[in-house]
Amino acid sequence: MKALVLAGGSGSRLRPITYTSAKQIVPVANKPVLFYGLEAIAEAGVRQVGIVVGDTAAEIEEAVGDGAAFGLEVTYLRQDQPRGLAHAVLIAREYLAEDDFIMYLGDNFIVGGINDLADQFRAGRVSAGDRPAAQIMLTRVPDPRAFGVAELDGAGRVVGLEEKPPQPKSDLALVGVYLFGPEIHDAVAALKPSWRGELEITDAIQWLIDAGQWVESTVISGYWKDTGNVTDMLEVNRLVLEGIEPRTAGLVTDSELIGRVVIEEGASVERSRIVGPVIIGAGCRVRDSYIGPFTSVDRDCSIADSEIEYSIVLRGASIDGVRRIECSLIGREAEVTPAPRVPKAHRLVLGDHSKVQISS
Ligand code: DAU
Repeated sequence: MKALVLAGGSGSRLRPITYTSAKQIVPVANKPVLFYGLEAIAEAGVRQVGIVVGDTAAEIEEAVGDGAAFGLEVTYLRQDQPRGLAHAVLIAREYLAEDDFIMYLGDNFIVGGINDLADQFRAGRVSAGDRPAAQIMLTRVPDPRAFGVAELDGAGRVVGLEEKPPQPKSDLALVGVYLFGPEIHDAVAALKPSWRGELEITDAIQWLIDAGQWVESTVISGYWKDTGNVTDMLEVNRLVLEGIEPRTAGLVTDSELIGRVVIEEGASVERSRIVGPVIIGAGCRVRDSYIGPFTSVDRDCSIADSEIEYSIVLRGASIDGVRRIECSLIGREAEVTPAPRVPKAHRLVLGDHSKVQISS
């Protein structure tokens, strides 16, 4: 079995962060979200992984390398434009050959890994006779309109799938991990672009169903998030931080560390109060500040005379003299400082598509 990891796309919902950075590389607890997926794939016993990359190829390749750090053999597959999830399968045709494969969306986050799913599919595939051509995971969501949505019959078999339907037939959303046999290639080859101009994997699975193929589904109740927007990103960060083991490798002086706090090597914390779970990356400097629960500060950041909570701060950012920052995603090398007090005004230099909420 191989894996196909999708790490192309445009990341429009995470702009402006994704103007300069791939969305799959945005860190969760200071580790790119994509790495959690690669670890889950390795744990499921898969070695050969094709990673589909687009405009941000250089950044993904720099982060993942040849995959050896994950125990994987990675092959990069270049997609000229984000033409859809099924298009990614199309361009991977030669790489995948006749093998079964796990397709994993690089911005999805699943707690508990995918071992059970992979084992179940493997077992089904080796038994003789009727065997699933595809296996999908579904989960109940409050607003299914942002996802692929499945309709099941009384026996739990999938009878219909729709991509982002305005009027969903159920609340069962497609999770971004799929298992396919080589049958999927005929389906993908037969597709036409959808109303949004993409080759939809949802349509390919529907094609299999219409062709009388068996599409198996598992409804998961565990934790799953598509980290495509800031709210979900912060929520996944919270969840991962809840499980960290406290560790202080950096230098802490005249400060209070409460709960699960990680201070990485080369970081320094002075005259500050840190209430975990919090991770402070290598080379950071924190002084005279409060850092509250569910905050990840990536390496080489500087936080002085400030308060921040429930936020993600990317590499090299600096925050000086600002209180209080909450529910925020602060980009790489960003600078946050207070405005002069008189007149009472806000001075902003914001990238295109930035989102700022100002309390006045
Ligand atoms: O997260 C689950 C949802 O993922 C499913 O419920 C939907 O059925 C499925 O279509 C997909 O919807 P999204 O709109 O969230 O997909 P997105 O465009 O965010 O792409 C998912 C990942 O695949 C992301 O890491 C970018 C990558 N990608 C996307 C496209 C369209 C590619 O590598 N190439 C592409 O052409």
